[in-house]
Amino acid sequence: MRIGVLTGGGDCPGLNAVIRAVVRKGVFHYGDSFVGFSEGWRGLLENKAMPLDLSTVAGILPRGGTILRTSRTNPAKHADGLQRCTEALKQNRCDALIAIGGDDTLSVALKLNQTGARVVGVPKTIDNDLAGTDFTFGFDTAVNIATAAIDRVHSTAEAHNRVIVVEVMGRDAGWIALYSGIAGGADVILIPEQPFDVDKVAESLKQRHARGRYFSIVVAAEGAKFADGKLATLDGGAKLDEFGHVRLGGIGNALAQEIEKRTGYETRSVVLGHIQRGGSPSAFDRVLATRYGLGAIDMVHRGEFGQMAALRGNKIVSVPISDAIASNRKVDPEMIEVAAGILDKLEDVKETAAK
Ligand code: F6P
Repeated sequence: MRIGVLTGGGDCPGLNAVIRAVVRKGVFHYGDSFVGFSEGWRGLLENKAMPLDLSTVAGILPRGGTILRTSRTNPAKHADGLQRCTEALKQNRCDALIAIGGDDTLSVALKLNQTGARVVGVPKTIDNDLAGTDFTFGFDTAVNIATAAIDRVHSTAEAHNRVIVVEVMGRDAGWIALYSGIAGGADVILIPEQPFDVDKVAESLKQRHARGRYFSIVVAAEGAKFADGKLATLDGGAKLDEFGHVRLGGIGNALAQEIEKRTGYETRSVVLGHIQRGGSPSAFDRVLATRYGLGAIDMVHRGEFGQMAALRGNKIVSVPISDAIASNRKVDPEMIEVAAGILDKLEDVKETAAK
């Protein structure tokens, strides 16, 4: 078969490992040939095809980013977008397409599949908030990076008697904040799932300091909301991408100011931003991404179109793309309990938020 491959949406470590696994198994085991479409759906819209073979994928396993590059292009926002995508597949003699991406990319994959294109999806997002699968690749790397950063800010916070707020990624779900906050021993963890009362946050820090501690670490997901539901955006929410998302950012700074005002403790913030998305994937993500790639190419040959490779337990299985994009996957309540078990006053913050 001749198979097209693209990567869409925000990049994350492990994309190259998926591409490599798809191509290697396709060539070695099925005699396939491949064509890459560069810059996500823009590659299909504008027919930007590139060679994709064993030599193109050589040496890419440890590399971050994606050799196919990416974009947040949404064909549905362009005149005859889906039709142009189908045309590009035909012109490049593609029997099938593997689309590697998050809910936005996969929503387009499903639409294209519904128009008759043979598409298989691979789940990708640093935020780990895609339904239908237990974990997405890239998440583990991001958690490791964020944890290392939290370890680092601990020593400087301690040296200066400061509170440091660490802002991590996580638009709709707080997976990175929760995991890195637990792993890094944060004192307060704020996630989009639980709007927070800043008075309660300040109170819990005061209680900690009253116990003799003289520094604190707060981890906040960029999508964490104040109790009134307010989100921190970079430009007041003025700019939307083609999928309608605002540019999040600034919760760390806003929170630091509010904490300092309420506690009198000197407070700083640090935004990890794209550092979490860049660089080499962890060993876990390389293995997971490789397994997703192998799962996807097998699905193409089994004719499982409109489906996505998914991790369930420790098995790679095939699930409908429609299931994956139906809802945003919130953090596991059991992990909230883990955090609640070790964090002072998280319960109070949670209860206040729920009122
Ligand atoms: O892809 C998810 C994500 O990493 C979010 O956590 C974050 O809000 C967003 O991407 C940032 O996107 P961009 O790189 O386009 O600014």
